[in-house]
Amino acid sequence: MMSKAKFITFEGVDGAGKSTHLQWFADVLRQRGLEVLVTREPGGTSLGEHLREILLNQPMHAETEALLMFAARLEHIEQVIRPALRRGTWVVSDRFSDASFAYQGGGRGVALPKLEQLERWVHEDLQPDLTLLFDIPIEVARQRLSNNASLDRFEQEQGGFFEKVRQAYLERYRKNPQRFALIDAAQTPEAVKADIEKIIRSLT
Ligand code: TYD
Repeated sequence: MMSKAKFITFEGVDGAGKSTHLQWFADVLRQRGLEVLVTREPGGTSLGEHLREILLNQPMHAETEALLMFAARLEHIEQVIRPALRRGTWVVSDRFSDASFAYQGGGRGVALPKLEQLERWVHEDLQPDLTLLFDIPIEVARQRLSNNASLDRFEQEQGGFFEKVRQAYLERYRKNPQRFALIDAAQTPEAVKADIEKIIRSLT
């Protein structure tokens, strides 16, 4: 019997390497005969991609940033994520609400109850089935980013910002450990792949 389609998210600070592993993860699921949709946040819809362009480039109040992230998310959920899951397609998203708690909450200091309120508003009855959290010391992540020529508004932040983002991610993990797989992203890409392979075996 076909099991229910799953919603899986990839999270971590910029430079943790999650995007590199995400495509490969989706390909392995496809090789196992699953229909898989790869998407990202902010983005994933036409409106969401417009908002992404603004969010990554235009300075704004931290709470405006949080509201726009969740506005893009609502559109993404209603137009893309729920319809895919309903037709039996697995959804793999490069970031979701944990990123808002980490970046707008931890990084920018938006109050946790406000973010929790937005989360309830936008997706009370939907959470990822699994979140792969790529955890890495900030110095290592920064070093990887320094090879990148064009840095967006978030990537241009200082190390202290990313330390707070990392801690807020780990706090989300501690509050809800059963939803997460914590991955040591400082390992070699091969070692990370081996960890992800184990996760896939437990999923399919
Ligand atoms: P990212 O996912 O790192 O994409 P790329 O690999 O193309 O740079 O970029 C998205 C940025 O948006 C990242 O710096 C984190 C930020 N972000 C938030 O601050 N809050 C959110 O809710 C989401 C989804 C992303």
